[in-house]
Amino acid sequence: MAKKASSNPQAGTERARPILHQHSREIQPFGKIAKLPIALDENVCAASVENLNQVLADTITLRDLYKKHHWQVVGHTFYQLHLLFDKHHDEQDELVDTIAERIQLLGGVSIAMAADVAETTIIPRPPRGREEAPVQISRLLEAHEILLKEARTMARQASDAGDDGTNDVLVSDIIRTNELQVWFLAEHLVDVPLVKADAPAKTKAASAD
Ligand SMILES: [Fe+2]
Repeated sequence: MAKKASSNPQAGTERARPILHQHSREIQPFGKIAKLPIALDENVCAASVENLNQVLADTITLRDLYKKHHWQVVGHTFYQLHLLFDKHHDEQDELVDTIAERIQLLGGVSIAMAADVAETTIIPRPPRGREEAPVQISRLLEAHEILLKEARTMARQASDAGDDGTNDVLVSDIIRTNELQVWFLAEHLVDVPLVKADAPAKTKAASAD
């Protein structure tokens, strides 16, 4: 005869069960520094964290702008722009992680969620609908220039404060990546013929005949 199952199937499993729906106070408020032993003054860390959170919000926004345009692009350059926008998206995504982790190692708290990013970024919000490819590219170029301008200013501030690591991230990662992506985008807005070259301008001697 089979043994009868226990009347309480939960009995004896208390220590193996996940403890769900836990809530408590934050352990570190946003904007405060929990300093690590990296031989940098706390005020220097705080200033770098504040700057890096601005760059982070703008880089997350630019990253997402690339994905929007990757999905929504139309026209005869669809395939190359679809791929290029995704490549740049992935490179910006790597920058996002680099910036966020630098903020954490400086003792700060990285901005992370979309609503907080939207409140912080200085990159203009695009419409929800689709736009023509030249408009998409112009919008991306404007976003890159906003980022480059602030990153250069912040790089100098980090250097002056002795925060060489932040200066290096801003220059070697953020500035160089954004400059390169600007080149790849901007050359698409040069108006040259696709198939038939422009007729050469007539010389003075030829036009006098
Ligand atoms: Fe895709």
